Amino acid sequence: MKIELITGSMTAAGCDALAVGVFEEGEVPARTGEIIGGALEEQITGILRSQTDSGKFGATTVLHVSSGRGASKVILLGLGKPQDFSLDRLRDSAGEAVRAARKIFAKTLGLVIPVLAGQGGPDPRKAGQSIAEGALLGSYRFLDYKTDQAGAGDLKTLFVNIGSLQPEAVQAGLRVGEVIARGVNLTRDLVNHPANVMTPAKMAWQAARIAEKSGLELTVLEKNDLEKLKMNTFLAVAQGSDEPPKLILLKHAGNPADSRLVALIGKGITFDSGGISLKPAEGMQDMRDDMGGAATVLGAMQAIAELKLPVNVLAVVPCTENMPSGHASRPGDVITSMSGKTIEIISTDAEGRLVLADAITYARRLGATHMIDLATLTGAIVVALGRLTSGVMTNNPEWCRQVLDAARSTGEKMWRMPIFDEYKEQIKSDIADMKNTGGRPAGALTAALFLANFAEATPWVHIDIAGTVTAEKEKGCQIKGATGVGVRTLVEVVSSLQ
Ligand code: BES
Ligand code: MN
Ligand code: ZN
Repeated sequence: MKIELITGSMTAAGCDALAVGVFEEGEVPARTGEIIGGALEEQITGILRSQTDSGKFGATTVLHVSSGRGASKVILLGLGKPQDFSLDRLRDSAGEAVRAARKIFAKTLGLVIPVLAGQGGPDPRKAGQSIAEGALLGSYRFLDYKTDQAGAGDLKTLFVNIGSLQPEAVQAGLRVGEVIARGVNLTRDLVNHPANVMTPAKMAWQAARIAEKSGLELTVLEKNDLEKLKMNTFLAVAQGSDEPPKLILLKHAGNPADSRLVALIGKGITFDSGGISLKPAEGMQDMRDDMGGAATVLGAMQAIAELKLPVNVLAVVPCTENMPSGHASRPGDVITSMSGKTIEIISTDAEGRLVLADAITYARRLGATHMIDLATLTGAIVVALGRLTSGVMTNNPEWCRQVLDAARSTGEKMWRMPIFDEYKEQIKSDIADMKNTGGRPAGALTAALFLANFAEATPWVHIDIAGTVTAEKEKGCQIKGATGVGVRTLVEVVSSLQ
């Protein structure tokens, strides 16, 4: 989909359909008439008087109008109450608009939301970014395995008119939004592919493609490299699988003069059967999503590189399956991590923290000054926060605040959870330095405290995305399936460090 900015009148663009933002109070944003013409505006306000629900946030109503010129189909796009309007709502509205357009087989859509015409509206650049994100995220589909390609109804061009007096700023925002949305959609693709396709080797291949296209420096460490580095906790998970593990490293040297190095670390379990601590059959198919953290890091790296953010960023992405077999790790095994700390494996299903332990140690060894890890780590975070909010844990409140500020400004819901030292009791082992499970109470927190042992004094933020990696239904810029959660926040937090 191409996204083009239009200023002035919209009928001239001659689109298949026009999506016109309308408020819940039955009005249209100021200057709508100037853009779509007074006659059409009058028709719309007339309809709004009787169909008051059309203005509800997220509602779309298709009208067939006979104006003789310009678009003959108009989509009323409910924006909610004017006072509740926000960049997040703008993003979601763009998503609803492009899906409504697809349903009526429009190839070209004019999007008319003159939110920048009045006083006190959103920042033009941010508004452009939100619209591009919403349109590209909301129209995303994953059809790779559908032999009947129902792509015929896809939108080719979106003409955007938000009534801005600063078209350059909106234009710049649109371009940034496109880059970020492509990163998010890449992440979604990686997660949506099944585990028989998206193996650790395929993840490494994808990383190579990203590196080549976006100019990142790639290193892939193979099993023998991991052995030399004594990454025994990573290897302990990988040893049950016939798929060879891969440790993917991507480097974006955005500012060589800067001494800071941000490490983005992603859990890349391409399938989590639980290992010898086998999971129940029901729902096991969802464990193809267990590389969501890894996918987020790869999608974010693509966007960070394409935006040429002047910050040094290192991706550390350990990828492996977690499988049961005659050479798998057993409950009760004790292993020595790369850091030298010893771990008693209680459950082979608490594998994410094992692969992350060595990945975090390695990131520090490579000079990380700031770390963020993303992981579908615990079912407990889903119990605590549901499918809406990602859980955030840290050893450094200041770094955490920066990450949470970034999350808030991108609209991704994240919330800090307390990891008081006292919870560490739960992961004490009788025979090793720690054990890999702490029982059911506070399961997300003991998992984080396990990781904290490896972050040591380096500022570190852990984001548990087990509940947010996929969505159950489409809404706004979200579609059913992989969400690409975290990409927007990672790009924003890196951007905030310039
Ligand atoms: N990948 C799972 C966590 C998960 C659960 C992700 C539900 C998405 C949805 C993780 O590896 C796991 O199995 N965690 C265990 C830990 C337990 C054995 C301490 C869990 O949460 O049950
Ligand atoms: Mn598991
Ligand atoms: Zn897992």
